[in-house]
Amino acid sequence: MAYSLVTFEQTKSPIAEAYRTLRTNVQFTCVDSDTRKIMITSPGPREGKTTTVANLAVSMAQAGKTVLIIDADLRNPTQHKLFGLDNAQGLSVALVQDKDYRQYIRETAVPCVRVLTGGPIPPNPAELIGSKRMKRLLQEVSEQYDMVLIDTPPIVAVTDAAILAQEVDGVILVLASGEVNKDFAQRAKELLDKVGAKILGAVLNKVDAKTSEYYYYYYYHGSDNTKKKHKRRKDRSAPSEG
Ligand SMILES: Nc1ncnc2c1ncn2[C@@H]1O[C@H](COP(=O)(O)OP(=O)(O)O)[C@@H](O)[C@H]1O
Ligand SMILES: [Mg+2]
Repeated sequence: MAYSLVTFEQTKSPIAEAYRTLRTNVQFTCVDSDTRKIMITSPGPREGKTTTVANLAVSMAQAGKTVLIIDADLRNPTQHKLFGLDNAQGLSVALVQDKDYRQYIRETAVPCVRVLTGGPIPPNPAELIGSKRMKRLLQEVSEQYDMVLIDTPPIVAVTDAAILAQEVDGVILVLASGEVNKDFAQRAKELLDKVGAKILGAVLNKVDAKTSEYYYYYYYHGSDNTKKKHKRRKDRSAPSEG
């Protein structure tokens, strides 16, 4: 199986358990605030943004929440692939043609998880993401769902995620272990700080169980620098590449 919807397909696996820990940490971080719109981004491509969004959504739904995923990576939308959905229509169409986005929200095999797919790739993603329509859409959906998780393009490469960061309640930064360049990660944080984003935490993804003695799953609180560390024993087959 491709590393995709593990929380749905292998509920009892250690990886699904790691996503539940992430869910719990997000809940703790948001305990006193009305945090509903959470954006997930990373410095570069292929660090695991889309995978994290999908599995966190499933995990939250399993805890009884209604969750909407918005694929706002209009440059490389892939959320629909994880859920086996059609992407002929979607967010881009709703924004360009001022169509009612609600008709493009798809049900999934996972109860309580809905997806607004990205739609056909538009020529002007940043403009659409920064539009009044997008703002209105985010406002509306946050009143209809318990949680709204937003998938985005890499933040260092293009402006879309930094623009969106200003419209959400919090941001989770996904960093691919061993792949992410330190300056790149720093740059991502600077870009988020610059727009006043609330960084809820960072996910260290793709930790290789074969090379690390333990699988460390880190979750950093962006606001107060408290650090939580969860150790997981190697022999329980932690996530690895491939
Ligand atoms: N923890 C992980 N371990 C192994 N492979 C992963 C992990 N997370 C994601 N992947 C894989 O890495 C690739 C990129 O992930 P994706 O979520 O599409 O990244 P992004 O959205 O940041 O571009 C996909 O093939 C995905 O299945
Ligand atoms: Mg992606």
